[in-house]
Amino acid sequence: MTVSTSIQVIAEADVLARLKALRAKQPVNFWAFYSSQLGGIVTDPALMLIPFDDHMVHRGHGIFDTAGLVNGKIYDLEAHLDRFIASAARSKLKLPCPREEMRDIVIRTTAAGGKRDGSIRYWLSSGPGSLELTPAAGAEPGFFVMIFGGLSYPDRWYTEGLKVMTTTYPIKAPLYAITKATNYLPNVLMQMEAKESGFDNGVFIDADGNVGESSNMNVAFVTKEGVFVHPTFDRILAGCTSLRLLELAPALRDRGLITGVEVRDIPVAEARASREMVLLGSSIKVAPIVRWDAQAIGDGRPGPVAAALLRLLDEDMRSSDRLIDVPC
Ligand SMILES: Cc1ncc(COP(=O)(O)O)c(C=O)c1O
Repeated sequence: MTVSTSIQVIAEADVLARLKALRAKQPVNFWAFYSSQLGGIVTDPALMLIPFDDHMVHRGHGIFDTAGLVNGKIYDLEAHLDRFIASAARSKLKLPCPREEMRDIVIRTTAAGGKRDGSIRYWLSSGPGSLELTPAAGAEPGFFVMIFGGLSYPDRWYTEGLKVMTTTYPIKAPLYAITKATNYLPNVLMQMEAKESGFDNGVFIDADGNVGESSNMNVAFVTKEGVFVHPTFDRILAGCTSLRLLELAPALRDRGLITGVEVRDIPVAEARASREMVLLGSSIKVAPIVRWDAQAIGDGRPGPVAAALLRLLDEDMRSSDRLIDVPC
């Protein structure tokens, strides 16, 4: 075996230049990053780092959540913080500080990003200190907040609709599905499989043959009878977008667009026969699905309920009581 001579021990003074060179090769839309380990905010992506021995990195013992920044305001942060705190408890993760302080850190980091539209993702880890399976003795929880450009989706998803496939990967067990932990391997594999197969995304089906969710989005339907129907939240992530739309959707019944709103198990056969199928989530908002596996949904074109739900959500994001002003 030959030993490579090109691997050097790097001097501390060279590390920063190398980290910057790494970023220069792959520019990113990351505007501000708070780290409780640094005790403050950085705006240079080369400095947005987490130690390798952090339990979130090497064991996946961490949770996260993502809220939207819309027109200079943070949308529905309290719902996202509720879910974050519930995920922390299920993951046996200590909070770094009281909720009010976490909210304040999120708002201040968003302000430091200096942008009016984007995404806010924050993580909680059990901290660094060893490479053991359980957290290191004396490890302090790590809290990280990233303000970034958000995920982008093609316009055609909204104008023409998406194609999804039933994934061959098993859905997460309920405890892991309802917890927004950093273990997204099934979600990643599902999306990769779909793209490799010529689809836009995948759909998990549960062991009883009911519809679950998509990779980082929920799915919902308008049945043949016109009911807006969403899977129950005991085996999938309780999407903040879904929960809000379930509150807003009755307005569409008053306008004659739907006949009712239901949250229940949805057998695959019923779902396939639906008039409309939609993806829901903080980043995608509402997008119509027009094809599922080999079959068209409804008439194979985006439907009126998908468009109306997107309008309801857009209005809510701009003028509801769920907005937090970001100080300049
Ligand atoms: C697995 C999964 N399901 C559903 C959602 C949709 O949740 P939300 O509407 O809060 O973005 C997400 C995104 O967070 C997700 O990761």
